Amino acid sequence: MNKDVPDTDASILYYDGDYPSLEIGDVRAEDAATLARIGILGDVAFYKEQAEATGGPVLEIGCGTGRLTIPLARAGHKVWAVDISAAMLDQLRAKLALEPPEVQARVHVIQQDATALDLPVRGFRLAAIPFNVLMLIPDFTAERRTLASAAAHLAPDGRLALDVMNPLTLSLDAEKKPSPSEPRRNPRTGNRYVKNSLASRLDEQQRQRLYGWYDELLPDGKIEVSEFAFTWRMIFRFELELMLDSAGFAIESLTGDFEASSWTVDSRRMVVTARLLAKE
Ligand SMILES: C[S@@+](CC[C@H](N)C(=O)[O-])C[C@H]1O[C@@H](n2cnc3c(N)ncnc32)[C@H](O)[C@@H]1O
Repeated sequence: MNKDVPDTDASILYYDGDYPSLEIGDVRAEDAATLARIGILGDVAFYKEQAEATGGPVLEIGCGTGRLTIPLARAGHKVWAVDISAAMLDQLRAKLALEPPEVQARVHVIQQDATALDLPVRGFRLAAIPFNVLMLIPDFTAERRTLASAAAHLAPDGRLALDVMNPLTLSLDAEKKPSPSEPRRNPRTGNRYVKNSLASRLDEQQRQRLYGWYDELLPDGKIEVSEFAFTWRMIFRFELELMLDSAGFAIESLTGDFEASSWTVDSRRMVVTARLLAKE
């Protein structure tokens, strides 16, 4: 999930099952409950509103398999969709190929490292860094560079929108037992699976290793086991504020969810909108 994760890691192969879309592909009744549990039920609507309010084009950093890219393009926005993972972008391209030609034409898919972003176009009205992408660049300096790169690609009146988990709601200690997910469906095979995940203790850089395995029930009754592992870095609220400030952003809103609830220590997420600080 971060840049050192191999393309074959199970977290990449099962991504669309773990984080189902209510807009793309077959939707199941339980998908909304899965998204609500993770705290991202309203994120697609939120980023669409941001694009609507700012006007396009949108720079989407860490677009992954296109969970937000495709709804943004369907809503009429031009999107430059950037991700470092070839395997995530392959899944995005496969889904995009099923969209009408006018939707496909609105999306530029770019494989680049967000920490050294350099696109041939600038002047974006909105830079979106959705769903924990900043945490998955697990190094303070690289996270700050990512924000500064986003700033460098924005129009002077451009906006930034991002969301990450609130670390105060997560376990910061090493977990001794795996937490199994509810049974989910692998959208590539249609088989049911369960994800078993554990987290390591937070290190001195606020990094945590997330690891575990997927058990997928095959049609012949056998269980296929695939492992995953990646690292993320907890970003605490005031650190996020300082990082945004030093990258040249002034925060406009910092809420605890996608319904604009006030942030508290118990909020699931930190959902931020910011504008560029005026240059002196
Ligand atoms: C949790 S996924 C989010 C994907 C998508 N935004 C969504 O909401 O479903 C994090 C994404 O960030 C990408 N990513 C991690 N480090 C990156 C980097 N240095 N540059 C660009 N993308 C990166 C990963 O490859 C992955 O696709």
